Amino acid sequence: MSIEIPEGLTELLQSFTVEVLRNQPRDLLEFALQYFTQLKDSETKEASFGNDQNSAPRPGKAVSFIDEAMQIDSENGEEDDDDEEFIAPVINRFIRRASVCAEAFNPDEDEEDKEPRVTHPKTDEQRQRLQESCRDILLFKNLDPEEMSQVLDAMFEKFCTEGEHIIDQDDDGDNFYVIESGTFNIFVKVDGTEKLVGCYDNRGSFGELALMYNTPRAATIIAISTGALWCLDRLTFRRIIVKNNAKKRKLYEAFIETLPLLTSLELSERMKVVDVLSTKVYNDSQQIIAQTKKDQEEEEVDITTCSRGQYFGELALVTNKPRAASAYAVGSVKCLVMDVKAFERLLGPCMDIMKRNIANYEEQLVTLFGSSPDIEQQSA
Ligand code: CMP
Repeated sequence: MSIEIPEGLTELLQSFTVEVLRNQPRDLLEFALQYFTQLKDSETKEASFGNDQNSAPRPGKAVSFIDEAMQIDSENGEEDDDDEEFIAPVINRFIRRASVCAEAFNPDEDEEDKEPRVTHPKTDEQRQRLQESCRDILLFKNLDPEEMSQVLDAMFEKFCTEGEHIIDQDDDGDNFYVIESGTFNIFVKVDGTEKLVGCYDNRGSFGELALMYNTPRAATIIAISTGALWCLDRLTFRRIIVKNNAKKRKLYEAFIETLPLLTSLELSERMKVVDVLSTKVYNDSQQIIAQTKKDQEEEEVDITTCSRGQYFGELALVTNKPRAASAYAVGSVKCLVMDVKAFERLLGPCMDIMKRNIANYEEQLVTLFGSSPDIEQQSA
C-alpha cells in the first residue's frame, strides 16, 4: 500500500522546523500554535488583499517570527513604516532571546542592499594585523573575497585591561570577537555557580553563539591580561556570516543526518555541528594526523581503513592524551573537521558511542598483535 504525501506537507514542516531552529522556543507546542495560526492569518489576509492569484492554499509558505519581531522592534527605528500589513504576534514570550531578535534573516533573500554597510577606517598597519588575526578563523573560511573584505572593513579594534568582562553570560549579543593578543578565561554557570571551563591564549575567537542562534550569551569571558580584540558588529555578522553558514547547512545537512555517531543529538544540535565544521582536502598518501609518541625505527602497520561517514581523531580529545595512531589519505580525501573546543561543547552526548568504538580499537589491536598497550593506556 502506498501512502500519498499531501502536496505542500514537506515544505510546511521544513519551514516550521527552520523557525524552531532559529528561535529555539522554550514551549514548542505554544510556538507551533502561534506559528500555524499566524500562517493561516497571513494567508487569509493575502487572499482578501487579492494577492493570492488563485486563492489556493499554500501550505509551504513560511512565516518568519524573527521577521515579525523586527517589525515590532522597528517601531522605534527605521524599518517598516507600513503597520497596516502587520498582525502583532504574541511571540516574544516563547523565544528565549526576547529583547534582541530584531534582525530578519532569510538566507534566500538578498539582504545586502537593505542594510547600510559598516566601515571602520583603518591604517595599513591595522589592516595587516587584523588580517593576520583573522587568518585561521573558521567562520571566515568560506567567505568569498568580497564578503571577507566587507567583514574586515566592518571590524573595529578594542583594547582590554586585565579583569575586564568582555562578555557576561545571559546578556544580549552585541559583537563577535577575534583575539589578536591576550588571554581570556571562559566561565559557564553550572547550578548557579560560575565554573572555569577554558581559556583562550592569544588566538581564536568567541561570541558567535548569541549572534548565530539569537540566544543570550552562553558564557562569561574575562580578560586575564591586557589584550587586543577585533570586534564585528551583530548586524554585519548576521548579514554575512550567518547567511554564509546557511549555505553550508544546505550543503551538509543531508550528510550529517546519515552519521551514526550523531544519532544521540537533537536535530538542532546536529545543525550546530554543521555550523562549526570546516573542510580539509588531502591528496593520496598525505598525512592527516600524526601519531605523537612513536619509536622512529618502528615500522607503521596498517590497522584499518575508514570510509565515508566514519570518523577518527577523537581518541586524543576524549582521553586528553597524545595521538595514538597516524592517518593517511587513500586517494583524494575530503574531511569535515571540528576544532577541540567545539568538539567538547557539542559532542558530549555522543561520548557513549565514541567510548564504545574506542573499545573496538582495542579489539582490533588485540586481534593484530595479541595486545594493545597504547590504547589501553589511553582509554584508562
Ligand atoms: P556567546 O554565547 O555569543 O558568548 C559567549 C561565548 O563564549 C560563546 O558565544 C562562545 O563563543 C564562547 N564559549 C567558549 N566556550 C564555551 C562553552 N563551553 N559554552 C558556551 N560558550 C562558550
